[in-house]
Amino acid sequence: MPKVFVTRQIPEPGLDLLRQFAEVKVWPEELPPPRETLLREVKDCDALVSLLTDRIDGELLDQASKLKVVANYAVGYDNMDISAATQRGVLLTNTPGVLTDTTADLAFTLILAAGRRIVEANRYVMAGKWKTWGPTLLLGQDIHGATLGLVGLGRIGSAVARRAQGFNMKVLYYSVPRNEEMEKELGVEYVSFDELLSQSDFISIHVPLTPDTRHLFNAEAFSKMKPTAVLVNTARGPIVDEAALYNALKSGQIAAAGLDVMDPEPPKADNPLLKLDNVTIVPHIASASIATRTRMATMAAENVVAALKGQIPPNILNKEAWDKRRK
Ligand code: GLV
Ligand code: GLV
Repeated sequence: MPKVFVTRQIPEPGLDLLRQFAEVKVWPEELPPPRETLLREVKDCDALVSLLTDRIDGELLDQASKLKVVANYAVGYDNMDISAATQRGVLLTNTPGVLTDTTADLAFTLILAAGRRIVEANRYVMAGKWKTWGPTLLLGQDIHGATLGLVGLGRIGSAVARRAQGFNMKVLYYSVPRNEEMEKELGVEYVSFDELLSQSDFISIHVPLTPDTRHLFNAEAFSKMKPTAVLVNTARGPIVDEAALYNALKSGQIAAAGLDVMDPEPPKADNPLLKLDNVTIVPHIASASIATRTRMATMAAENVVAALKGQIPPNILNKEAWDKRRK
């Protein structure tokens, strides 16, 4: 039987599927396997199910002479070195599509929560500070009728645009490349990055982490935003320069932020963002619904099973590696 290593306990339906085709070993702990453990475990594996906390690079792949496929249990795959895998003929896959709406739900939750100061308000009540109805107590930003700027109009960005329609928001977007078909379908307006920064009341990030998007939100970007603006990030932490974000939030250059992702994760205990009232932080849970995490597990398993059967995995990221294996 082929061997599969799964780097964390994922929902059972995915593991059950894998067990029909392979001997499955699951890393049982809450924290990711240490690097040395991972390097050791892959040595005799035919397949690996990885998480975004596992770095999949040339060093790891060189340990694993039998490895056919690495199935990432995530849609984002900045933790994987695609060209290193392609060079070595190892197939890489992700879990696109199944988490789109769940992630868009969470992005919208953060838009609402950060805009209306929900977490801060809850802390206020829990701390026993609620004395009376206050005419100017905890005033926030209106979501309905506001201008939402989306950075990225892929699957998730588009799903956020659809939600914004229900709140009668004006939706702007910036993306490379421009997507005119989607623009028409959703009734959203393409603008430059600078226009998006200066015109949006809410900005939500939906691009992958790449060298081009790293620190896209830096001090210069914050200086162009409205003092009432709210920034939401459910994509990847390093797209935002956190020191610059802290300065912008602290000085009132922008009003608030809602973060599902940080750099690094978890944040260090002395990260000053953790001390601010105008930032709402959740621990990278955008795709974390029971149904979606279960579908992601099944999808990752299906990708592994296809590769083990010598078939092309449905969600292959490096088709070149497949072509190379065929030769
Ligand atoms: C989570 O961040 C994912 O990329 O699926
Ligand atoms: C993510 O997969 C996206 O396309 O937004």
